[in-house]
Amino acid sequence: MKFRTVSQLRGEVTVPGDKSISHRSVMFGSIAKGTTEIHNFLEGADCLSTISCFRNMGIDIENKNGIITVHGNGLRGLKAPNCVLECGNSGTTTRLISGILAPQTFDVTLTGDESIQKRPMKRIMEPLSMMGADITSIRDNGCAPLMIHGKQLHGIHYHSKVASAQVKSAVLLAGLYADGKTTVTEPKLSRNHTELMLRFFGADVHTSGTTATVLPAAELYGNKIHVPGDISSSVYFVAAGLIIPNSEIMIKNVGINPTRDGLIRVCKAMGADITLLNENHDYSEPTADILVRTSSLKGTIIEGDIIPTMIDELPTVALMACFAEGTTVIRDAAELKVKESNRIAIMVQNLKAMGADVEETEDGMIIHGGKPLHGSIIDTKKDHRIAMTFAVAAMAAEGETEILDADCVNISYPEFYKDLMTLAK
Ligand code: S3P
Repeated sequence: MKFRTVSQLRGEVTVPGDKSISHRSVMFGSIAKGTTEIHNFLEGADCLSTISCFRNMGIDIENKNGIITVHGNGLRGLKAPNCVLECGNSGTTTRLISGILAPQTFDVTLTGDESIQKRPMKRIMEPLSMMGADITSIRDNGCAPLMIHGKQLHGIHYHSKVASAQVKSAVLLAGLYADGKTTVTEPKLSRNHTELMLRFFGADVHTSGTTATVLPAAELYGNKIHVPGDISSSVYFVAAGLIIPNSEIMIKNVGINPTRDGLIRVCKAMGADITLLNENHDYSEPTADILVRTSSLKGTIIEGDIIPTMIDELPTVALMACFAEGTTVIRDAAELKVKESNRIAIMVQNLKAMGADVEETEDGMIIHGGKPLHGSIIDTKKDHRIAMTFAVAAMAAEGETEILDADCVNISYPEFYKDLMTLAK
């Protein structure tokens, strides 16, 4: 797909529902009693993989005009699938579902696409095995396909080496079925959607700092969920509005959970003209409209506790840093190397191809802002967030840019290009 410079972006956009929350609403609804009605569900390929896995375990999931109704079968109501469960490109599906499957009374094999078969699964295999799970990597390389023989599990206190909501969630979900309390302590706090939604479904979940505890549950109870817009999908409009001249973009109804809002804090530190309007804190997942206007950005240092709160936004913030005055340093972000692609290497390779002054480091990047970008051919490695970031880069660069495998945006934002083009004046 080819893109050219645009002179300004103006207008309003509503980004699709949050991917993390959409996954969890289907998963928890499937193992709850009663129905779960999900509004503003993200119908991207990743969340559709989650729906298909649970349908294959006997859960009736309807989609009527975008409203998803999950007819849960209760905590012990999943049925053995008669096929391999296909998780596609989705790390969240693969890792969270493993926590639900390890304590079942049946056996399952899980797999996914080429990217998922390279992503580290030892991080969930280790704590689940400590709980008594029988989970193995079929090729013995610590990656999917995974074989899980259902077993009775024990509660543990797990000290995770990585700040990962997927690891934390897998352990807490397994803990619902364990014979005692299960606790996870993380090095830094990761997104807390699992803790919030499990509590909303009636589970006994306690949190304190970077520690979360769940007690064994008799049942969860289905509930009505309004999924907020995904802040990770808003970042492309935030960046575009800030770096493209004469722009003003209003992004409606975005989730601003404090474990996800690092983007807003970093934008402010970079001197961005960014305002939150219509903040709504009535629900456990707060929302706001985000207004951005073209800004003179300055470099900043992004490190430490803020990293997990903006991990999926960091590639796009690296692009913003190319348009900032001075140097931006991103560190403590080695997790970027094990996402859908190695997002440090791919960002550096593609930004360099467009003329940016950027260096790869062990755990991040150093970006010297101010060098104008020019069009190039962008190798996305079929990573949705890389494709969307470079669509924005292309609009802010001189000349023409070609994005390879541009349709990978279907993973998290099928209407992305249409929404972006609508703002171009
Ligand atoms: C997610 C957690 C993050 C994030 C991913 C979604 C989740 O991954 O990058 O896009 O839904 O829990 P990690 O838990 O591996 O950090």
